[in-house]
Amino acid sequence: MFVEIVLISIVPTILATIGIDVSQRVSQDQFRCLNDNGYTFAIVRAYRSVGVVDSNSAQTIKNARAAGFTRVDAYLFPCFPCGDAPQQVIEVIDYLREERAEIDRLWLNIEGRWNNNTEINIEFLDELIKQITDLGVKFGIYTSRYQWFSIMNNVTKFSTQSPLWYVHYDNNQSFRDFQVFGGWMQPSIKQFIADVKECGVVLDKNFS
Ligand SMILES: *[C@@H]1O[C@H](CO)[C@@H](O)[C@H](O)[C@H]1NC(C)=O
Ligand SMILES: *[C@@H]1O[C@H](CO)[C@@H](O)[C@H](O)[C@H]1NC(C)=O
Ligand SMILES: *[C@@H]1O[C@H](CO)[C@@H](O)[C@H](O)[C@H]1NC(C)=O
Repeated sequence: MFVEIVLISIVPTILATIGIDVSQRVSQDQFRCLNDNGYTFAIVRAYRSVGVVDSNSAQTIKNARAAGFTRVDAYLFPCFPCGDAPQQVIEVIDYLREERAEIDRLWLNIEGRWNNNTEINIEFLDELIKQITDLGVKFGIYTSRYQWFSIMNNVTKFSTQSPLWYVHYDNNQSFRDFQVFGGWMQPSIKQFIADVKECGVVLDKNFS
């Protein structure tokens, strides 16, 4: 009886982790401070929505690892109007590999301005994913329920290939608010608050 009670109270604490995502350069000291504050994973912007590699990202990724972050991912914010989906993937992965910045997963941001024709958007995402897979990198999809409906028409086919990182700014570290969409029955990460300053870094907070 006693043992059961202990397990029940401990398990959720072990499973739940919090992390950050950043779109600025972050130093090793800043990451150490964030690690001390309890964050265990970091996701770094590596490709900007304007269609260029984020030239801060490689160093930031290396700083996170050096500071003891065990899970470091990157995100690619695709530039739909720029066209050429595979080229965007190649640019960012080549850059990170040349700089020896090791990532565990590359997330694709599905938000912002895409085409009005959701079939065209789905095709663009297919091309991004095909290229990432060809380069042997793990990927995931970042989106909100609202964005997924408007950009991807709630298509479900990606849910079987990709984990979901969803956006819901309720400042609540749990998945209890999650509503099924796009075929995802459960999320992998939730971005629960945006643009907070901590340890001198402007960041978004995530629950996993
Ligand atoms: C998309 O739809 C909006 C609203 O219907 C319209 O104003 C805009 O011109 C359309 N854009 C394109 C690229 O067709
Ligand atoms: C988080 O959400 C859960 C479930 O909706 C709720 O029980 C809890 O009170 C919320 N916590 C905060 C801090 O809002
Ligand atoms: C969106 O997709 C989910 C499956 O994840 C489905 O249950 C839901 O009915 C869909 N919603 C609409 C409005 O099509």
